[in-house]
Amino acid sequence: MNQLSILILAAGKGTRMYSDRAKVLHEIAGQSMISRVIDTALQLQPDFIGAVIGHGKELVKAQTERPVQWIEQAEQLGTGHAVACALPYLPKDGVTLVLYGDVPLIDVPTLKALITAADNGKNTVLLTDTLNDPTGYGRIVRENNGHIVRIVEEKDALPEEKEIDEINTGIMVLPTAKIADWTSRLKNANAQGEYYLTDVIALSVADHIPVIGVALPAHYLAAGVNNKLQQAELERIFQRQTAECLMTAGVTIADPNRFDVRGTLQCGKDVFIDINAVFEGECVLGNRVQIGANCVLKNVQVADDTVIKPFSHLENCTIGNNAQIGPFARLRPDTVLSDNVHIGNFVEVKKSTVKENSKINHLTYIGDSDIGANTNIGAGTITCNYDGVNKFRTEIGDNVFIGSNTLLVAPVKVGNSATTGAGSVITKTCPNDKLTVARAKQITLDNWQRPVKK
Ligand code: UD1
Ligand code: CA
Repeated sequence: MNQLSILILAAGKGTRMYSDRAKVLHEIAGQSMISRVIDTALQLQPDFIGAVIGHGKELVKAQTERPVQWIEQAEQLGTGHAVACALPYLPKDGVTLVLYGDVPLIDVPTLKALITAADNGKNTVLLTDTLNDPTGYGRIVRENNGHIVRIVEEKDALPEEKEIDEINTGIMVLPTAKIADWTSRLKNANAQGEYYLTDVIALSVADHIPVIGVALPAHYLAAGVNNKLQQAELERIFQRQTAECLMTAGVTIADPNRFDVRGTLQCGKDVFIDINAVFEGECVLGNRVQIGANCVLKNVQVADDTVIKPFSHLENCTIGNNAQIGPFARLRPDTVLSDNVHIGNFVEVKKSTVKENSKINHLTYIGDSDIGANTNIGAGTITCNYDGVNKFRTEIGDNVFIGSNTLLVAPVKVGNSATTGAGSVITKTCPNDKLTVARAKQITLDNWQRPVKK
């Protein structure tokens, strides 16, 4: 039987994060580290996948919606003990890949190479790295013939062992059938009083199962996160890679170091993205779309030739072709804008549709509304959609002209080609083709005199 099992160790507290949340819930590119590791693991199509959790386990379970077997390690007695906790759940045959919830950027090709080297459990495989400064890591001890014989932890290492610059990343592949025996033979008579998983390497050698070291292609792949500094370093590496993928595919990014995707971003041809743009969730940009500096887009679809000007915030909305949004626009969820729509500065649109060629250019709130084509909404317009209890819709037809500072008290309708006078408070239907004015008439007092100082 050629079964692949995967164990993700994630019970540790992460003291150096100084956080109330379990370390593995901290995020890289908007996704928790543990869910990243699980998603990578799932791509290997394992027969079994388990995650060993302890500190903050309830929140880890609740916030990681992934098909894994949760395994509880009540006390963190060491990495070897963590693996032993999984024994009741582990299949009996094949190989077991050990991953870590705080090593978020490990990738599928690296793991496939390890699994191949394990040759269905004929070998034990270690992912190793060579570092200029190996301080803190377990060192790989080899015989003169080059064969790996054991791992020694930094705290247990002799001075000459500390000179070894080949380190244990922690990621390894074990013959599953041996795990019960090997973990039962671990002792905690060491500097940290822990059951070290690393001690199974010497046991593998003693049992004549050769240990193969596979060298890591790039340091970041097995880099762990122990503090906020390391988290930020991996975040930048990840974002840089995302930017490079997009740039290689033809997207112009003004500065790849000031660019963040926390989800997925799909781009058409000749897209331009200025500095400090943040993309969250699933965003899709059509051909020739331009994103101005300091825009935030979350779950947004933008069609061809549309320009999003600086400092705009867009969430859960769809924008047609050749539209212009911003600067300083806010598009809230369930907003659908058709082709050639203009949304200007300090305009907020929520749960509304706006048809072709309509313009809402200045200082306006449009909520729960349907606006037709070729309509112009004047500066300072407010749809009064909320009476404090319920929300109501505003319907505005085609070719409408809403005068500046109109209040539209919903539910209310404005017919096609209607005009409202500036400053009107509209509470009833505005008929088609007519001007409706609802404001106090202007008067002038002929005999009025300015007060004078007594
Ligand atoms: C471990 C390795 C070391 C390696 C290093 C790479 C051991 C004994 N040492 O050291 O050789 O160079 O990783 O970073 O394995 N964990 C549990 N339960 C436990 C203990 C740990 O789930 O009882 C988890 C932790 O949450 C953490 C991971 O295992 O994610 C590693 O544990 P840690 O104690 O940090 O090991 P290191 O000292 O870093
Ligand atoms: Ca560690």
